[in-house]
Amino acid sequence: MSNDAFRDLSQNPLIQRLGVPRIPVLRRHTVGAPLLDGPALVGSVGSGRFADPVRALLKDADVPDGDGRLAAVVLDATAARTVDDLAAVQEFLTPAVRRLAPNGRLLLLGPGGAPAGPAAGTGDVEAAAVAQALDGIVRSAAKEVRAGATANLLVVDPDAPPAAVDSSVRFFLSGRSAYVDGQVVRVATPVGPARDPIGMDDPTDDVHPLAGRVAVVTGAARGIGAAIADTLARDGARVVAVDVPAAGEALAGVANRTGGTALALDITAADATGRLLAHLAERHGRVDVMVHNAGITRDKLLANMDADRWNAVLAVNLRAQLAINAALRDGDLLSDSGRIVCVASTSGIAGNRGQTNYAASKAGVIGMVRAPAPGLAARGATINAVAPGFIETEMTARMPLGTREAGRRINSLRQGGLPVDVAETVGWLGLAESGGVTGQVVRVCGQSLIGA
Ligand code: NAI
Repeated sequence: MSNDAFRDLSQNPLIQRLGVPRIPVLRRHTVGAPLLDGPALVGSVGSGRFADPVRALLKDADVPDGDGRLAAVVLDATAARTVDDLAAVQEFLTPAVRRLAPNGRLLLLGPGGAPAGPAAGTGDVEAAAVAQALDGIVRSAAKEVRAGATANLLVVDPDAPPAAVDSSVRFFLSGRSAYVDGQVVRVATPVGPARDPIGMDDPTDDVHPLAGRVAVVTGAARGIGAAIADTLARDGARVVAVDVPAAGEALAGVANRTGGTALALDITAADATGRLLAHLAERHGRVDVMVHNAGITRDKLLANMDADRWNAVLAVNLRAQLAINAALRDGDLLSDSGRIVCVASTSGIAGNRGQTNYAASKAGVIGMVRAPAPGLAARGATINAVAPGFIETEMTARMPLGTREAGRRINSLRQGGLPVDVAETVGWLGLAESGGVTGQVVRVCGQSLIGA
């Protein structure tokens, strides 16, 4: 039994006979599971550079070609420039989508690069329109595909080498991206070392893609943070689990089961950054993946807001992250394939009644990942945010039934996500191989209508 009784009930054939739609059971990654559980179809529009490398990646992962139901459809539309090219996209996708299996994956690759400027010729403007049109196709297809299937778009910079998209293609095709739907992610040319210089990170090792990497997770004692710690450890990372001293027992439990270390630390304390860096320097000599997950809410309408509620939320959710990131940027503990991943929220995108403080902090996180991305890229590091939508946690379990049911259903997958869905997304962004993905906000929300 999950938290979602209606979803469980909807699996019953007798209930389905009453006309109640079945809520899909999502395909999620399990250790040793194949990338895809059926054949994939790969196509390209014009002279796309990525179709052959994607075919090679799939062959490597033992994904069969084949007739019948498709586990995945990948279209390289990076060469699309004209409205005629869009007709070719439709011509390929229409029959392919009809064959998409339950929990299937539709993944498009589209052209990235600078938008057409004032001196743009007609062709440039048409190309810009076509690039944006793919966005509309994917977001609409994500709403149409059924039974747990998803659709996502990778916007690839013109000079990005084929290998730059590998980790993202793998993520979006796998069960790891179960609750990531209708998203558009830009993949740039990675600057600096494309792979971990220490050479321990092997993204093609699907069992331990984070082997040898050192990860810090704040707020790791429970909820989404504990799931992130578990998932990164499962994938081979050595985890430093951070939480407030009051959560000490739960934190020790997480550290024990992940084989990592616990650091009892209030991240808002004046000496917090210094203590975190000292712990990293002593135990590991570096950090490869810094996950800012700790977060609090102190809801109140703006008209009734007080300085304590305001400052408490901003201190944990934004100020502490700014301080740690500044120290990592200016120091030498963040490795050359360092990955900073911040947990934002769809409330930071859409706003939410009673949450001006929380939405300010989470929108602030989005600003915080966009601004320093170019500077970090110069040394091979990245910074990204994940923005969870409705996730089944203790917090959402305590919501009134009506609000909870509405929150769960207003997305294309008609259910809430699980903490592990956020954790898997963090894991993908934490790979050394994901160096082309930076300054991005990836929603883990099942294509929620909120803030869409
Ligand atoms: P939670 O309340 O279950 O866990 C948060 C953890 O952070 C706790 O263990 C807490 O002790 C720790 N923490 C709080 N203040 C801290 C501090 N000053 N120093 C160190 N640790 C501190 O929350 P949950 O639901 O797991 O959320 C995790 C993150 O995901 C938060 O940033 C939250 O805003 C975000 N989020 C959650 C959503 C949901 O549906 N649960 C939706 C969108 C975003």
